[in-house]
Amino acid sequence: MPDINGLVQKALAYKSDPLRNKKLGVNKRIGCFFLNPSMRTRLSTQIAAQNLGMDVIVFNVGSEGWALEFEEEAIMSGKTVEHVKDAAPIMGKYFDILAIRTFPSLKNREDDYSELFINQFARYAGIPVVSLESATLHPLQSLTDVMTITEELQKSNLQGSRGKNRKSKIVLTWAPHVKPLPQCVANSFAQWINAWGEAEFVITYPEDYELSKEFTNGATLTNDQDEALKGADFVYVKNWSTYTDYGKIYCNDPEWMLTNEKLRLTNNAKVMHCLPVRRNVELSDEVLDGPSSLVTEEAANRVWAAQAVLSEILTAIP
Ligand code: CP
Repeated sequence: MPDINGLVQKALAYKSDPLRNKKLGVNKRIGCFFLNPSMRTRLSTQIAAQNLGMDVIVFNVGSEGWALEFEEEAIMSGKTVEHVKDAAPIMGKYFDILAIRTFPSLKNREDDYSELFINQFARYAGIPVVSLESATLHPLQSLTDVMTITEELQKSNLQGSRGKNRKSKIVLTWAPHVKPLPQCVANSFAQWINAWGEAEFVITYPEDYELSKEFTNGATLTNDQDEALKGADFVYVKNWSTYTDYGKIYCNDPEWMLTNEKLRLTNNAKVMHCLPVRRNVELSDEVLDGPSSLVTEEAANRVWAAQAVLSEILTAIP
């Protein structure tokens, strides 16, 4: 794991002075490749790169490019047209940094958790590759989330209202959804909060929705949402599909949706979600539109987290 607090401080510094390193990326170009849809990640990464003086090219490779093959020794007689081992080295000539979004299939856990797509780009591009959300992780989101929590704690500590002289309590809660979603955001959030180590961390979900222990080890796990919410300072709301019997929806119990009534169990918790969110399915209007919600600030912070990571890479490359 990277130096999380170091990156957070860097991100906060960019937030207070976005153009402080506006020449760092001059004469450098980033390619942002999307095999899947995006709004926040796409726009925030572009803004971050531009703030550093970089040229940016966005390519919706999933909808506008040739269908890529990722398997080694594939006999390409099916739908795929170009192998990543032919495409990625060219990207290495066009760009200084490559950033990629590639979602999981949710059909085969072993395949998805091997991270074949992004790993093959990294293997063959010969330049730094940044994840804009891959099959199992969304690190730029998680850096943003730790930054947003840090920022909120700094504000609250000034007011003496939370976290002072004790670890703050962060709860990651499963929420209902109408379709099976990846585990990426939840995996990443768990991985980063555990590695950060500065909070009491509880993950709550209905039976059969456990995540991979690789990411949750260190957190308290419970199927009792009300118990988990007691005394929470931050509630991170996210749906994910099943991990063990992979990619399924078993439960869509609306009781798991966060409401103001549930929030009353917390320590006046702030509510986070990576967005996009299904209103009144995952999260109620009253919470999203109320004073507890941090979702807009959280999404806005995506720029500064991306800028911190890109600046680290730019500093390291010739
Ligand atoms: N949170 C997030 O990654 O949003 P987008 O899918 O819109 O990029």
